[in-house]
Amino acid sequence: MIIPGSGSQALAAELAAALGEELAPVEYARFPDGELIARVGDVSPDRAVIVASTPTSDAHVELLQLQDAAREAGADEVITVLPYMGYARQDRVFQAGEPVSSRAVARAISANTDHVITVNPHERAVCDFFEPSAVAIDAASVLADPLPHDLVEPLFLAPDESATPLAETVCDAYGTGEVDYFEKVRLSGDEVEITPSDADVGGRDVVVVDDIVATGSTMSESIAVLNERDASRVYVACVHPLLAENAVTKLARAGVEQVIGTDTLERPVSRVSVAKVLAEEL
Ligand code: R5P
Repeated sequence: MIIPGSGSQALAAELAAALGEELAPVEYARFPDGELIARVGDVSPDRAVIVASTPTSDAHVELLQLQDAAREAGADEVITVLPYMGYARQDRVFQAGEPVSSRAVARAISANTDHVITVNPHERAVCDFFEPSAVAIDAASVLADPLPHDLVEPLFLAPDESATPLAETVCDAYGTGEVDYFEKVRLSGDEVEITPSDADVGGRDVVVVDDIVATGSTMSESIAVLNERDASRVYVACVHPLLAENAVTKLARAGVEQVIGTDTLERPVSRVSVAKVLAEEL
């Protein structure tokens, strides 16, 4: 049985269809004081697969409630699928006095589950913070599906070196093209400095590939550099289209041709689903 979090309903439905499993009815409500209450309908699953991205603190609490409700409903096995795991980027102490937030939320999630599946977490090592078994699956290949078939001398570009494997995955899935990467220095939460490589992008179509688009600074700065160098069409492809604050406007103003994201976060740019990749893992 698939149990959806409120922010992952479309993905959960696709996954249920892909697996031929029942989709549990869930009601998401609040008490008058603002506290959340997620109620799973009258079900009695042997295996409960909870599919719930956690981009907000409320989503984390809702996930803990769904895990508990699944046990209450008699599930022998509870699998927690985190299509997008919030707090995963806070995976170390950056300044004295800070918590390792991803470890803290992983421990809370671990309390009521038998297995965890994450999708392209920023660092795979975050899986080590869970106490039951946890895996990270790579769904980046699906990002090639919505790309047009007529890309001209396509360049799959990572905005920093750490995203190069993602760019390679999308390039391989597309079937043709080259891979390159820029250098990035983060100046603040929403400011980055991009140093381009010497790749010749003039007249070429470029697909900039990253795991997350958050504030959109990384992508808009990369697009600005590509425009200065006379690239043709520039596509942005990311697994997790977080699109915080004014990211959509930044990307539009930068002149992006199209933003392609998956449904790990359900946004207007979620043009492709990770359901089939998850179904293979389940
Ligand atoms: C961090 O290194 C990630 O891979 C992304 O590049 C980053 O989260 C993007 O953030 P933003 O959209 O705020 O520049």
